[in-house]
Amino acid sequence: MDELGLSQAPVVLGVSLGTIMVPVYVSSPLQLVLSDSTLAELLAIREALKIFCQSEWVNISNLIIEFDSSVAVSWEVNSIVDWMAKVVPGAMFVAAIIVGVVITIFVLLLRKCLKKRKKEERKRKYFIQNGGAYLRRLISTGALVGDSKVFSPEELEIATDGFNENRILGRGGQATVFKAMLRSGRVVAVKRAKTVEEWIRESFINEIIVLLEIKHDNVVGLIGFCLEAEKPLLVYEYIPNGSLYQILHEQPDNFLNSWEVRRRIIREVAEAITYLHAIRTTDFNGICHRDLKSQNILLDQQYRSVLADFGIARFLGPDRSHLTTQAIGSLGYIDPELQFSGEYTKRSDVYSYGVVIAELLTGEKAISRRWGNLAMQLKSAVKNDNISAILDCKIVTEENKNELSSYTKLSRRCLKKKGKNRPFMEDILNELNRLQGLFG
Ligand SMILES: Nc1ncnc2c1ncn2[C@@H]1O[C@H](COP(=O)(O)OP(=O)(O)O)[C@@H](O)[C@H]1O
Ligand SMILES: [Mg+2]
Repeated sequence: MDELGLSQAPVVLGVSLGTIMVPVYVSSPLQLVLSDSTLAELLAIREALKIFCQSEWVNISNLIIEFDSSVAVSWEVNSIVDWMAKVVPGAMFVAAIIVGVVITIFVLLLRKCLKKRKKEERKRKYFIQNGGAYLRRLISTGALVGDSKVFSPEELEIATDGFNENRILGRGGQATVFKAMLRSGRVVAVKRAKTVEEWIRESFINEIIVLLEIKHDNVVGLIGFCLEAEKPLLVYEYIPNGSLYQILHEQPDNFLNSWEVRRRIIREVAEAITYLHAIRTTDFNGICHRDLKSQNILLDQQYRSVLADFGIARFLGPDRSHLTTQAIGSLGYIDPELQFSGEYTKRSDVYSYGVVIAELLTGEKAISRRWGNLAMQLKSAVKNDNISAILDCKIVTEENKNELSSYTKLSRRCLKKKGKNRPFMEDILNELNRLQGLFG
């Protein structure tokens, strides 16, 4: 049965003879069983019917709402559409039917309106829960720029084919990402929170705020977002070739078997992070990504690297060199100094970047059963002058041995235990330029 039970509501029309005219009355024309309805909805129906009853066409009495094991609204239409009777006496019965039908349509429309209102209220509630009011304030004060679009939950539901499992592009710690097609025909990626936990909602709003400030070829573009759904949604440009992690560690035969491609990725990621660290306004002094890892580096159509996942990224305050934080990030990539100092600096990102270079040089995961901690392995190989033993044999040639050795040493510098001994991203870019000049 539908919510109001209208589909099964009996419509009883009665015709009786009056004294002067031929009166027509409709007794209990609609009996609505409202088992699931709220009191507010019932009262709204009653009020609306009362207004309707005062019209000159129809007079409804005995409007009652009963609360029993189920809830029922019933009423009687007991006046006649007597003008009609005067004009066409034979049409009395038809008039009664018309009255019944009109009321039915009226109630159906009313129910639709109430449903719509409830839905709007729900959307408003989710919007507030998801931090939408805060975001709106930031945008209205001009603190945020960017031209992202606000999507409705319905639009993204359709675009993802109801968040169909077959559309999943990847899963992270907090979200699932779906391939989707917008009404315009544009293919995009839609990220949906896995749960409605507070910290996940916060990371979504954080990602919007950070991405609205960023525009770079090697950083994923935010097309829009939706905060009116129970689980917040982000819409990004679609990056078709998956994550570096998926390609490097899950697809044995791939285009990453060439050192030239890996070298290009090392450079592009460095450019993206250098940009983040250097971006400055009066309100902040750079952005720390805080979750650099191969799962968060995507590869586009031309296999260019695109940095993604800004859920825990943070702005550094003006004149600040660090954020006070607990150890944050992913196992195998976290700056070891962080757990003692509680201070996240730009050089904590440099440590994670060093692990990504190590992954590209060795073809091994940051943490694996076989190798344990990759950073430790790389460090001891450099220390023992045994670099060739850890390099991925797929990329080593007679000609590039020295070059690979130089990149391994660069990775080692990024992985220094003490942050102050690690280079800044600008230094790394300079070193990459130098190596490019040296080895071509
Ligand atoms: N724009 C995108 N295009 C294609 N795939 C994506 C895109 N964004 C994310 N993905 C896929 O979804 C995975 C999880 O996305 P991510 O943003 O890292 O979520 P989480 O915050 O949960 O870690 C990624 O590793 C990648 O495989
Ligand atoms: Mg991620």
